[in-house]
Amino acid sequence: MPNFTLNGQPTALDLPADMPLLWALRDVAGLTGTKFGCGIGACGACTVHLDGQAVRSCITPLSAVEGKRVVTIERIDQDPVGRRVQAAWRELDVVQCGYCQSGQVMSACALLRANPAPDDAAIEGAMSGNLCRCGTYQRIRAAIKLAASQIATPSRGA
Ligand code: FES
Ligand code: FES
Repeated sequence: MPNFTLNGQPTALDLPADMPLLWALRDVAGLTGTKFGCGIGACGACTVHLDGQAVRSCITPLSAVEGKRVVTIERIDQDPVGRRVQAAWRELDVVQCGYCQSGQVMSACALLRANPAPDDAAIEGAMSGNLCRCGTYQRIRAAIKLAASQIATPSRGA
């Protein structure tokens, strides 16, 4: 257990079904861009995509990923929305210490794929579970709006 797609690659891991996905990503697959923060689904540092949805990998057992697509921060640049979000993050210099930021980017990408033009309430709803001890919230929201504007105007870059 389980068989799934990890960043586009068919993957089979001989690991306990109740192991958190985060453990498998970091300790077995070596994908350390996804961070451990709280371990109880309360901070968002461990956010990855499961069939395109933002999920907290620390509370997602491997049994839940069977047959599904898992994407981590290491391959979010393969996605057009992911490239826009990363470019906006760089343009607005969002990151401070960086620890929370892979989770922030993953949540922002899931939001913008589902809703390419989110209003403030939609951004708040999608991002409220991603905490940042450095207080980069204003820049995160500005970067999401910048990415949304660039998605709406494809000629502006990647
Ligand atoms: S480490 Fe998963 S939500 Fe905090
Ligand atoms: S940038 Fe430091 S915790 Fe968010």
